Amino acid sequence: MERKYVNPSFPHLLHGADYNPEQWAETPEIWDEDMRLMQAANANEMSVGIFSWAVLEPREGEYDFSFLDTILDKVYAAGGRVILATPSGARPHWMADKYPEVLRVTPTRDRMSFSTRHNHCMTSPVYRVKVREMNTRLAARYGNHPAVIAWHLSNEYGGECFCPLCCAAFRDFLRERYNNDIEAVNRAWWTTFWSHRYDSFEQIDPPTPLTDTSIHGLNLDWKRFVTHQTRNFMEAEIAAVRTGNPDIPVTTNLMTGYYGLDYHKLSEPLDIVSWDSYPDWHSPEHFILAAKTGFWHDAFRCMKRRPFLLMESAPGTINWRDVNKLKRPGMDTLGSLQAVAHGSDSVQYFQWRKSRGSVEKFHGAVVDHVGHENTRIFRTVAHTGEVLKKIDEVAGSTVISRVAILFDWENWWAVDDARFSCINKKYRETCEAYHRVFWKKGISVDVIRKEDDFSPYDLLILPMLYMPGKGTAAKIRAYVEAGGTAYATYMLNMVNETDLCHLGGFPGEGLREVFGIWNEEIDALKPAERVHVTMDGTDYEGCDVCEIVHTEGAEILAEYASEFYAGTPALTVNRFGSGRAYYQTFRDTDAFKEAALSAILEKLGIRGEVEALPDGVTAHARYADGVRYLFVENFNNEEVCGIDLGGTGTDMETGEPADTANIPAFSAKIFRFNA
Ligand code: GLA
Ligand code: ZN
Repeated sequence: MERKYVNPSFPHLLHGADYNPEQWAETPEIWDEDMRLMQAANANEMSVGIFSWAVLEPREGEYDFSFLDTILDKVYAAGGRVILATPSGARPHWMADKYPEVLRVTPTRDRMSFSTRHNHCMTSPVYRVKVREMNTRLAARYGNHPAVIAWHLSNEYGGECFCPLCCAAFRDFLRERYNNDIEAVNRAWWTTFWSHRYDSFEQIDPPTPLTDTSIHGLNLDWKRFVTHQTRNFMEAEIAAVRTGNPDIPVTTNLMTGYYGLDYHKLSEPLDIVSWDSYPDWHSPEHFILAAKTGFWHDAFRCMKRRPFLLMESAPGTINWRDVNKLKRPGMDTLGSLQAVAHGSDSVQYFQWRKSRGSVEKFHGAVVDHVGHENTRIFRTVAHTGEVLKKIDEVAGSTVISRVAILFDWENWWAVDDARFSCINKKYRETCEAYHRVFWKKGISVDVIRKEDDFSPYDLLILPMLYMPGKGTAAKIRAYVEAGGTAYATYMLNMVNETDLCHLGGFPGEGLREVFGIWNEEIDALKPAERVHVTMDGTDYEGCDVCEIVHTEGAEILAEYASEFYAGTPALTVNRFGSGRAYYQTFRDTDAFKEAALSAILEKLGIRGEVEALPDGVTAHARYADGVRYLFVENFNNEEVCGIDLGGTGTDMETGEPADTANIPAFSAKIFRFNA
């Protein structure tokens, strides 16, 4: 397996932080102290310049790059590298004052004043010119600086703008999508309903509380437009930074389960995906959260099919939830190594040094207000850095999965709009719940998009794939026909890509034949209600969504045991071509899916990286050059002993041979095997 490094000029695991030295420009001796501390923390990377615009261009057209010149040289001299940001995530006051069009307009059509950050219009020609000018200058000045190993585009792209420029751009987007034919729009959106027909594109407004949110096709196309426009803005940023040194890879920091952008589309122009991970550790659902964090690591890894970056994580604590607990001893390092286990080539924090003022002054940071390294958090970070040094050869290696879960943003949006049960949709949570079954068993999963090739996988999980989109049903059919095993759930293929229902029985587009079932009705349960299901003589509980399905060739593996639909199928399997297509008709409370999938895994001979894992313990592996790096992660607050590694490897921290492992509370161990 060929290694893929973030930047081959620095083939290492990265360990570093968002670094905002411009906040300390009046005390530059702190900059030198930061360099000493960076080495003491075993850090080798700093993300710089993320919110620096007001310093870099204090007055329009007046540039001052002196602090960046100094900092880049200092970091490099201290042995570190820099991920250099474009500062478009926040802009100087003068720009908002002189060009109000750079600011966003809210859904209720109020223009924002200069405020907060992340509030720029993605369409504004003025903003685009200003960003291009800034990025081009940064690229010319630093593109060939030896410290710079990647570009960090903006910060956490997100949000929407309803200004006249964005509304006009939306109409153009629709003209293009519907070949300038308003009747095609009327058909696609079913606008005869409530007399909502459009006579021209000029009449179309984005969905807002002031306009129309009842046209599902419109809602969907608006969300598609927001992704399109954000991506278009980002591509302009990329083009500008590439004018310096086109070989520097670009990334942008994405967010956990962010709803507003189709990250599959947004990530296409990036070289590297990176993301900001802030799990609410030590909440009652600690293991569920650990698995969910794993789901998102897997999703981000699969976007580029190469190592990703953990761009931000909090040392100690964050500061924006209602209650912000400190991470318990061990958790910082465990959370960091969890990212690496799933394919990250970095562990990075927000932020390096705690700000003295403003809203993030009590957010966790590597260097606290006390200013020295004798703190619990600093020691933890330094320890993580020490472990990363010992496992540095993991950099560039790959994760291999035989199981995939399909997760899709457009489907998510469409499912949420469907009105038969409004509070129980939980599409994201459902995908995470299926993933958790494998996480508990130490089985690696790829979280994939509908455009991906399904053929490398032995098992393909399709939770709530209500709107598979053009061509996906045919791909699923071909996959099963060729011998694949698909496991789909309730709500499979009910609408087309403009959110019009398939006629002729669900699931549509031939999937009725593939799965051998017809879904006639959907029952929605109140939150506390349960139905009973039996499989192999065992009783299970169902909740939220229950479909009443008829078999058309499929075999029944489980059935409802309560309600007026008792005796109808709860799980079916259909042989189709040389494969099998399973259909789960109801939402379960985890025990059922665990039992059903365990039987399938057994049949397919898919085993965990480590077998018989105790509760709260999981295992993942990365591969390269005939070597397998096995990570065993213990999310329990107590030691687990005697885990059988299934062979003799080398403990990468101690260098000792090991065939069993004791993993202390909240920690991970990494073993090297010759594969
Ligand atoms: C986000 C931002 C950072 C910082 C952190 C705080 O991830 O990108 O600038 O505000 O949140 O948790
Ligand atoms: Zn706008």
